[in-house]
Amino acid sequence: MELEQLRQQALAQLEAVADETALSSWNSQYLGKNGLLTQALKRIAQLPPQERPSYGQQVNALKEALLAAFERKKSELHQQEIARSLAAEALDVTLPGRPVLRGRLHPATQVMRDILAIFAELGFQVYRSREVEDDLTNFELLNMPPHHPARDLWDTFHTTVPGVLLRTHTSPGQIHVMRQYCPRPIRVVLPGMCYRYEQITARSEIQFQQVEGLAIGESISLADLIGTLSTFAKRFFGGDRRIRIRNSYFPFTEPSIEVDVDCILCQGENAAGPSATATLPVSSCTLCKGTGWLEILGAGMVHPVVLRHGGYDPERFQGFAFGLGPQRMAMLKYGIHDIRLFWSNARHFLEQF
Ligand code: DAH
Repeated sequence: MELEQLRQQALAQLEAVADETALSSWNSQYLGKNGLLTQALKRIAQLPPQERPSYGQQVNALKEALLAAFERKKSELHQQEIARSLAAEALDVTLPGRPVLRGRLHPATQVMRDILAIFAELGFQVYRSREVEDDLTNFELLNMPPHHPARDLWDTFHTTVPGVLLRTHTSPGQIHVMRQYCPRPIRVVLPGMCYRYEQITARSEIQFQQVEGLAIGESISLADLIGTLSTFAKRFFGGDRRIRIRNSYFPFTEPSIEVDVDCILCQGENAAGPSATATLPVSSCTLCKGTGWLEILGAGMVHPVVLRHGGYDPERFQGFAFGLGPQRMAMLKYGIHDIRLFWSNARHFLEQF
């Protein structure tokens, strides 16, 4: 009778159990080490010996029954929990996924590749040269002895090691490549970062890239330089671009020139009369400021002193060299007004390319 009562009470309570916590306290109340069923089993010792077997069997049967009921309840609760969470946290697999952000090449890298590809077609190989230079190679071997006023053209970052600096241009690479390949002919471009101790403005940065060009051989003339640069300007800017050569001065070239390209915005209207494709009247062109021309690079025939420092005999060899700024080229080509955008990690800028 007592056991029957226990069974009914236990099953009724189990019926009312609604969550895992209640289930586990029900479990310890009845089936646990000090649970009611264990206590019932212990009572066997107080019974007369002949009643013990049948009492034991009844307790064991009750235990089995309660265990089975417990397992049933447990899985029922589990199913309920799954159903509840499926309903509450319903996953709509038809929703569009989050877009994967695709990376892309930095505009400076893209423009650099475009430039190098054009020179590759013209037979120029890429030569990489160091960014940390010595004073000797950055200036002296390029025909600028100490205290030479031409050094004022380049504001320089010096390191704490005397005579060691961040290169102000890619031109010292000319010395490295000449010394490596002398007396063979050379046709290389030298891309890379340069550094100048300058005020940062929309037009000048303390770091920027350059592409240096160098060709050395036994019959190289200014005509080769002009042909190379005008082909480059046409391929890089597109259209039927013309170039203009102006007199200039660089310590490492003689003669030195500066090269302009006719304005890609107003089509150089001022430079060569009215043009049918002009998009703006020349007087109001903001890009070339009404001149019709855009300056793109410096160049010249390699100075005999520089040839000699590279190991070449200037009586036998001639060469041309040029230096251009890819950032400046990109600004002209894509109408970018501020050079600081290139290294400022500005996403709104980068994402346009
Ligand atoms: N190194 C010069 C600069 O940074 C650019 C330059 C001019 C390079 C003339 C050349 C050259 O090779 O021939 O201002």
